[in-house]
Order: sequence, then structure tokens, then C-alpha cells
Amino acid sequence: MSSDPTVAPEAARRRTFAIISHPDAGKTTLTERLLLQAGAIDLAGAVRARRGGAGARSDWMEIERTRGISVTSAALQFTYRGHVFNLLDTPGHKDFSEDTYRVLTATDTAIMVIDAAKGLEPQTLKLFQVCRTRGTPVITFVNKLDRPGRDPLELLDEIEREIGLRPTPVTWPVMDEGAFLGLVDRVSGALEPFGRIGTAAPTAQAPVADWRAHEAFTPVIRDRLGDELDLLSGVGADHDDEQFRGGETTPVYFGAALGDSGVRHLLDSVVDLGCAPGAWETATGGTVRIEDPFSGFVFKVQANTDPRHRDRLAYIRVCSGRFERGMQVHHERTGRTMALRHAHQPFGQERLPLDEAFPGDVIGLVNASGLRPGDAISAGDPVRFPPMPRFAPEHFAVVRSRDSSRYKQFRRGLAALDEEGVVQVLRDPQRGDQEPLLAAVGPMQFEVALARLEAEFGAPTQLDPPRHMVARETDQAGSELLRRDGVSVLLRESGELVALFTSTYRLESFERHRPEVSLTPLLAG
Ligand code: G4P
Repeated sequence: MSSDPTVAPEAARRRTFAIISHPDAGKTTLTERLLLQAGAIDLAGAVRARRGGAGARSDWMEIERTRGISVTSAALQFTYRGHVFNLLDTPGHKDFSEDTYRVLTATDTAIMVIDAAKGLEPQTLKLFQVCRTRGTPVITFVNKLDRPGRDPLELLDEIEREIGLRPTPVTWPVMDEGAFLGLVDRVSGALEPFGRIGTAAPTAQAPVADWRAHEAFTPVIRDRLGDELDLLSGVGADHDDEQFRGGETTPVYFGAALGDSGVRHLLDSVVDLGCAPGAWETATGGTVRIEDPFSGFVFKVQANTDPRHRDRLAYIRVCSGRFERGMQVHHERTGRTMALRHAHQPFGQERLPLDEAFPGDVIGLVNASGLRPGDAISAGDPVRFPPMPRFAPEHFAVVRSRDSSRYKQFRRGLAALDEEGVVQVLRDPQRGDQEPLLAAVGPMQFEVALARLEAEFGAPTQLDPPRHMVARETDQAGSELLRRDGVSVLLRESGELVALFTSTYRLESFERHRPEVSLTPLLAG
């Protein structure tokens, strides 16, 4: 079959990326400023308003409002310098890191935001590792330079030491006794001054072609800056595209999102350094090329994003070919054929009809029942992509229906939440549906699950503390030995066997006595 000639040039101008950070580093602020500078929104506060109470809200998103966190992930599409940006939104709270993990499977580049005063924080480290494992190139943005922070050189050292990615600063901050004076582009020498004009809040100022010509800098500042820039060049901390794409280096940008400093540099970096969609690996060791017939995979399923519709949206990352509304595709897991009629461009809470899409784009499919995270769809030969990564659950709770007349709804609700990946539902194969166990990475996932069971499915539910503390995946042979030794072995909907121990001590002692039993932390898909 001859390939569609529009696909390769359209894919080449796509940039699909996610912004990730430890909570509070400034992800929301930066997202908003990027959208403003790119002209995608025209009102500061729009992103925050989306999560802060304005607009359509579903009941369970009440949790987002009251806790001031973002649980839902969607995609924003906008154009900048002739390129189509697909910005995948990730939840800010660490309890939903599994969701972030899934979103990262759909991006080509990640932007990691670091608070200049705090450096690498636990969630930053974890996310860097995830990108590393997946081979996702990372651009680093060091934020909040307008506040007292750590020495930029020290931050670079920390990135290299803790993560093993060599930092290559593209811009460099001009500091004077802790005060942030501007950013120098290390290649062109251009300066973006930062400061206050009159009584206004400090902000990025109009650029100057060469920092050496900036008269406001004293000789001391000038000398120090010159030394720092020489030092960076001396150690060869320069951007190299191949090393960046190979996951060896991370280009570093500095700035203060709140004062718009460094934001334009970062937007440009997505065009200039960010990766265009490329071939996608399949589960069988092959690749899908972007020119191949349409294929995509579900990286997220989200129910009930809009209380007026109460429906279910599957987010699909296009891996190859051209998507056209209404096209017939093959659903790999079920072997069924489906027509993709109700396709939307998922711009935050709004839904715009989508007629076509190219590699790198995200399609929101409404009420595509039967689609689960990790599923592949294709218009040509069937394809299967590597399984979705999962985090080991660390929190468990026994779940019970509080109203026996609503048992059917309770069961339906649990199945839906499991399928969406809101929580994992584990069952005792002998006891069937009685008292399943919920497993989660963070306890707030339980809150979302309970709120949704009640509001969406009309199933009042209670959670009781479980006996189990630690989970490991096992196999059939292992499960028999484990049961004999009094360890609980439960079953996931997807078929894996999960051994649950009452304490880490119990697990360790079991591992010592029975080294032949396969017990793996639940990280595989
Ligand atoms: P997050 O999404 O990563 O969780 O972070 P968010 O953008 O919500 O920012 C966390 C806090 O840091 C906010 O302050 C925000 O205004 C502030 N912030 C973000 N970027 C900068 C920056 O460049 N400089 C300075 N000085 N502050 C920054 P807040 O007081 O928690 O919230 P708000 O009342 O300002 O909304």
C-alpha cells in the first residue's frame, strides 16, 4: 500500500511533550506562561482556573478543587513557529504518579521543572528515572530564579551526580549576590534582562543582542559572568543533539516562570531540540514507521470529565499514519473492528471535533467502550505495543458495598475504575467477588475511587484497613507454595497473581527460605 504523502511532513512539525515536576516546582505556572507566549490562551490564570473551580466540573473533580490539585490529564494542542505542539498534561500530586507514568509513554520529549532553591526532590528523581528507563529525552527547566536559590553550578553538579545525565546549559543566569539579573544565551550571547520597571513586579525585559554591551552590568558582574561562561565551555557542557536524544545529556534552561523569564527560550527549545515523532516499537520487537497506515495506543481512559455528558473518554496517541474521523480500525486486544466516529481534540475541558490527526497527535474518543490503557488500534495490520508500565502499589484497602441493594452498581463501578487504572482491584480466586482488595500507589487514589463509586455509580462504599502491607507479583508455581505458607495470593483482572504479605519482615523471611519462588516488585505492565 503506498503511504499518504502528507504524513511525514505533518509528523515532522509535531512536538509531543509533557511537563513534569515535583509538586510546587512551578509546573502549572510554566504551562500557563508557555500557552500565553505561544498565543494559545490570552488570559493569565486560565490554567489555574481550570483546576481551581471555574467551568464544568464533575463531582469527583470536586476533590481537585478542594485540594487544589490536578487529577485529570488531558492534552493541549497549539501551534508555535509553524509547529504543532501537543502538550500532555500530567497530574501534579505524587499519589497519581502512575497516571503520570502512563502519560510519559505517549510523549516524545519531557520538560522537567526544578525549583532552584530545592534542587532535585523525590518526585523529580523518580520521574527522571522513568524517562531514563523509557529513553525519553529530558529538557530541564530550573525555575524560580527570582527567589533566593542555590548556586546554578551546584545544581548542575547535582543533576549529573544524582541522575547520571550530563547537563548542558543552553542559557545561563546572571546572578549578583543572589539577585537574578537576566539570562544569557550561551550560543548567541544575547541577553534577556530581568528586573523591575517602576513599581511593577520583576519580569523579563526586551532582549539585548550581546550581553557584553549591556551597560547596567558592573565590571564585577561582567567578569564573573565571563568566567562562568568560559568554565562551561571549558568543560564541554555544550548541547549535542545525538547525546540528548540518546539520553546521555539534558539541555538546561533557567528562568522564573512567574516573571516570564526563560519561557520563550523553552518554547523555542521544544521546536529546535524537541523530538519529532519517530518509529514506534512494538511488543514483538519490530517497529511501526510513521508512514505506515494509521495506528495508535490508548494511554489514558478518563470517565466523566464533564457532568453534562457523563461519558468515558479514551486518549489515543497516534503512532503512525493519518487518522480520519469515522475510519474503521482493528482493536488488537479483542480482535474487533470499530469505527472511530466520535473523535475530539482534547483541549483541556473543551471538546473540539477532530477530523484528522497525524503521528504525535492525541485523539479523544468518546464512549469507545472496551478501550483500556495500553490497547492498540490500527487501520493496517494488527499491532501490539509494549505493555503499560505500572507502579508497585503501596497502599491497600478492603472495599465493601455499604448498600446491598446497590451491589450490581458497586461491581460495575469497581470494574470501570480498574479498567481505567484509577485503582487496582485484586480478588481472591476462591472467594470471587467477595471483599476485593483495592491497591494504589497513593492513598488519594482511594478518595477518588470512593467519590466516583458513590457519585457516578450510585454505590455507597466503605474501605477497611487490610491485613496486607507489601505486594509482589508471582507465578502459578510460586502461588501454590505461598498459599501453603499462609500468604494471600490474589488475582488481578488482567490475570497476574499478586502475593500479599502482612509485613516487609514476612516477605524478607519468605524470600530467604524459599529463594526459588518468583517474587517481583509490581513494576511490569
Ligand atoms: P506546581 O504546578 O508544580 O505544583 O506549581 P505551581 O505552578 O502551582 O507553583 C507553585 C507555587 O510557586 C505558586 O505559588 C507559584 O506562584 C509559585 N511560582 C511558580 N513559578 C514561580 C517563579 O518563577 N517565581 C516565584 N517566585 N514563584 C513561582 P503559591 O503561593 O503556592 O500559589 P499562588 O497563590 O501564587 O497561586
